[in-house]
Amino acid sequence: MVVAIDGPSGSGKSSTSRGVARALGLAYLDTGAMYRAMAWYMLDRGVDVHDPAAVGARAGEPSLVSTTDPDAPTIAVDGVDVSEPIRGAAVTGAVSPVAAVPAVRERLVALQRAAVAEVLAGGRGIVVEGRDIGSVVLPDATAKIYLTADPAARAARRAAEDAGRDGADVPDPTSLEATAASLAARDAIDSTRAVSPLTMAEGAVHVDGTHDTLDEVIARVVGIVEAAAARR
Ligand code: DC
Repeated sequence: MVVAIDGPSGSGKSSTSRGVARALGLAYLDTGAMYRAMAWYMLDRGVDVHDPAAVGARAGEPSLVSTTDPDAPTIAVDGVDVSEPIRGAAVTGAVSPVAAVPAVRERLVALQRAAVAEVLAGGRGIVVEGRDIGSVVLPDATAKIYLTADPAARAARRAAEDAGRDGADVPDPTSLEATAASLAARDAIDSTRAVSPLTMAEGAVHVDGTHDTLDEVIARVVGIVEAAAARR
């Protein structure tokens, strides 16, 4: 069983994907974390992330290893766990241009397919989240979900997550506005890039989580996955 969950930033993809993996006893792969790890590497090496040729020339360098436990997913670059730093503002600001570079996508798509093949060879299924999973990476997935939420709901969730990471309980209004602007900027790049733009894959089921709790969205997706598996 392979479940592809695509959608824009802040749609609740990560929490939903992990919840679905837990509910169904599946592994979990966060492909966004792989693009973030690649962006982290470029920043660490002083590569200009707005220079596609420079980024492309070095896309083959880092070793990237993802673990697939939905309760504690990690990602390492050249043996260093970067799970925390890839969530910081520097990487978030750099990742969309890095993810638009064809050589980066070629390398990461190959790594993603290999990670999925390894899990399947071990007799388990997997939930894979990203932007192009159902359309490009795993077009034969058992079930494909396109998860969205209204921009305002997405910005509020992402700002609350960021505030939690910074030790505050609630985001201040300025950071909410900044988060909304940053989400909109990333959406624009992710949806209009030439290679594998964010799009609803053929055969995907659209789930709008704007008015649902996380548990409700997870239950809906589990129902869709079970129905798709039963049809196979
Ligand atoms: O889901 P996220 O915010 O961690 O994704 C980080 C960036 O990576 C975002 O700009 C979109 C990009 N991405 C992508 O292009 N393809 C994927 N399969 C996953 C993420």
